[in-house]
Amino acid sequence: MAKDEIAAIVLAAGKGRRMQSDLPKVLHPIAGVPMIGYVLANIDEIAPKSITVVVGPGMESVKKEVLSRNKNIKCVVQQQRKGTGDAVKKANHLKNFNGTVLILYGDTPFITSETMQAMVNTLNSNDGLALVVLGFTPNDTAEYGRMIVDNTGKLKEIKEYRDANEEQRAIELCNAGVMAVRGNLLFKMLAKLKTKNVKGEYYLTDLVSIAGNDGYSCGVIEANENEVMGVNSRDQLAYAEDLVQEYLRHEAMSNGATMTAPHTVYLQHDTYVGKDVMIEPNVIFGPKTAIGDGVHIKSFSYIEGAVIQSGAVIGPFARIRPGSDIGEGVRVGNFVEVKNSTLGKGSKASHLSYIGDTTVGNDANIGAGTITCNYDGKNKYRTEIGASAFIGSNTSLVAPVKIGKGAVIGAGSTIVKDVKANTTVINQMPQKELDKKSRKKGK
Ligand code: UD1
Ligand code: CA
Repeated sequence: MAKDEIAAIVLAAGKGRRMQSDLPKVLHPIAGVPMIGYVLANIDEIAPKSITVVVGPGMESVKKEVLSRNKNIKCVVQQQRKGTGDAVKKANHLKNFNGTVLILYGDTPFITSETMQAMVNTLNSNDGLALVVLGFTPNDTAEYGRMIVDNTGKLKEIKEYRDANEEQRAIELCNAGVMAVRGNLLFKMLAKLKTKNVKGEYYLTDLVSIAGNDGYSCGVIEANENEVMGVNSRDQLAYAEDLVQEYLRHEAMSNGATMTAPHTVYLQHDTYVGKDVMIEPNVIFGPKTAIGDGVHIKSFSYIEGAVIQSGAVIGPFARIRPGSDIGEGVRVGNFVEVKNSTLGKGSKASHLSYIGDTTVGNDANIGAGTITCNYDGKNKYRTEIGASAFIGSNTSLVAPVKIGKGAVIGAGSTIVKDVKANTTVINQMPQKELDKKSRKKGK
């Protein structure tokens, strides 16, 4: 086994009590990705020999999520939550591993692969080191563990907040919760952990003083506060979301999108935005959305699970739902909802419509207030609207129904039968003018 091999362990057995949630903490999403997904993606970049995730009992959902991302990950269960040190012990299949064991926390999502690699490199550069810890100096030191460094700059001990005295709590250098440990020492040191602390837990952080007692030193690498932030509460989750949103907006703008009020635009980790896209204030993207070049999205639009082809103009106040393909140069105007539908090149639905389970050909015009009645209370049916068809305002299209190419539907019609190509159809109540007598009789 090569000494420079890396085995990663991600701790995710904690319940996340401070989240007040039925969902395991590491599954809470940030820009649409469960927190642990960020950790695993960053780990992948350092190409470890193996990845182990420690989960709590009954956390099948975490296992499932982890394996869906990488089926080679080994999940081990920590039956009782006895602390971060105890959780690492559960990875005892690594007992004979001689390389570097990199220990990360599932609730610390943004640690970059560069930082991970720098920790491994520091450890490998000095035989006297048993481990390297990641430190940071946060604005608010909150309840992070404090790093006790002696006057020669050597890390002696990590004091957990609850166990620290006033003087120790005043220390600004905190533990980010990542540790690179020599594999051949790790389990010997873990065996020496004790639970003499306020929480009565096996603290992983005690490895620092244990290493010192065994005649080794411990290194510290410092990282940026935003990179190492831990998510323990909903407030911190919101802060993490903010950081990712800022990054995603920046990426979209670097690729050539204009946002007039970027802080009001919400993206997902997988939102694709082409170049020369104009995004007005207050636009929200749900998962699985791709926006082609030159698209203009006007304010207050909500787009999810859709492809918007180049040059289309969407909104203001448009709602595009999953399964939609909005063609080149299409216009979807205010208060138009599109679901699971394809709109061909150059088509227009400019005002107040519901288009669901529908295929619209090129250059069709869908008048204001057109509704596809796609649901009979049990099943959903499709509507087909041919190229260049003209659907008059306030038309109900009762699916399944086909409107032929170039057909014209008069305003206010309820269409229940297929309409042939190039015909004009009206289906409206005839307009009557009532005289005084029939008005009295109510006729
Ligand atoms: C931990 C560190 C603290 C550091 C902080 C950084 C310890 C003792 N303390 O504190 O020094 O400043 O992270 O964010 O390590 N977990 C298990 N099993 C357990 C306990 C925890 O798997 O028995 C997992 C949790 O799911 C979580 C991670 O370990 O992902 C950290 O646990 P948490 O309770 O959040 O530790 P902190 O109090 O934040
Ligand atoms: Ca934590």
